[in-house]
Amino acid sequence: AEVKKIAVIAGDGIGPEVVAEAVKVLKKTEELFGYKFELEYGLFGGIAIDEKGTPLPQETLEMCQRADAVLLGAVGGPKWDNNPKELRPETGLLGIRKALGLFSNIRPAVVFDCLKDASTLKPEVLEGTDLIVVRELTGGIYFGEKFRREGANGQEAVDTCVYNVQEVERIVRQAFEIAQKRSKRLASVDKANVLETSRLWRETVNRIAPEYPDVELEHVLVDNCAMQLLRRPSSFDVIVTENMFGDILSDEAAMLTGSIGMLSSASLGEGSFGLYEPVHGSAPDIAGQGIANPIATILSVALMFQLTFGYAEAGQVIENAVKSVLDAGHRTGDIAVDKSKAIGTKEMGDLIVAAMSR
Ligand code: NAD
Ligand code: IPM
Ligand code: MN
Repeated sequence: AEVKKIAVIAGDGIGPEVVAEAVKVLKKTEELFGYKFELEYGLFGGIAIDEKGTPLPQETLEMCQRADAVLLGAVGGPKWDNNPKELRPETGLLGIRKALGLFSNIRPAVVFDCLKDASTLKPEVLEGTDLIVVRELTGGIYFGEKFRREGANGQEAVDTCVYNVQEVERIVRQAFEIAQKRSKRLASVDKANVLETSRLWRETVNRIAPEYPDVELEHVLVDNCAMQLLRRPSSFDVIVTENMFGDILSDEAAMLTGSIGMLSSASLGEGSFGLYEPVHGSAPDIAGQGIANPIATILSVALMFQLTFGYAEAGQVIENAVKSVLDAGHRTGDIAVDKSKAIGTKEMGDLIVAAMSR
């Protein structure tokens, strides 16, 4: 079989713990399907700051550039929280997304039936929830000019939010195309009642919407969307939004599924190359304890198979394995109703690997 190169950057905190379980899933897939994965490991985030003096070393970036896909854990932690911007793990994350041209971040939030009781929301509200947040990932306030200055009343800080038509158009088109393959409903989320970038966003959506006549489009203001996500989550299919709104709404959507430890993501550009990572961070509060939920990272591998490699069946095998392990009642602490019965990261990974079959 053709060898697929996967760049693995585990990062900080629980990153290495959850990535180790995802790697077991990759190995099991090789056994089951005869696929060949060549894994290459690189330093990234806080650990790269400590060892190389920068969160995104050139050799790590080059390793990602020559790979077919990237598997990423998470970065960040209290140790680096007071560093200057260039020496922050998060700056490396933004840098790698930008350098690899990954403007589209796909974050599915699916409520597993057996986890309806794990959410803080009422089960009947969650019934049938299966949505995707499509988050613009390389523009907006994250990437606009930032600076400090002296104002009349002391120091001021400025973050600028910039979007151009081309940036909006390419992400919105992707979202329409995803919606066409699903339930054909698209919610475009903005703050067009206040922000100029949002008015450009909405104009652009309206201009290209006629090209997708089969998709039912609604515009939702972001504050209302935050509310509707809790009131009527199952009515959403695809949500497309700008960078910061997408960051916030996807963590909110995570709680529909029971835990942020369940949410996978794919970051894509124009081609098939992609970076796959859980939506959650490095979880410093539980790092090193072996209790993090590896499912978000494992489901990110399923997305890698489906979206970059075209290994649809292998992706399905992973999803089925996760579902069967959850159906059998196995829970990490974050999704356990009875916390005293919770299992650890490795146990969860092993159970999922054992449940994988064709
Ligand atoms: P976080 O997502 O790391 O953690 C939020 C809460 O969710 C914590 O209580 C944590 O224990 C829990 N949690 C997260 N993932 C879990 C998992 N797999 N299993 C069980 N529980 C889980 O967010 P935070 O605490 O705001 O951020 C911590 C650090 O991570 C910060 O430095 C932040 O910048 C960074 N961060 C990185 C990424 C990334 O690498 N993509 C994403 C978000 C945050
Ligand atoms: C995420 C994270 C990052 C973001 C941070 C760590 C830079 O929260 O991937 O959701 O805001 O994009
Ligand atoms: Mn986030």
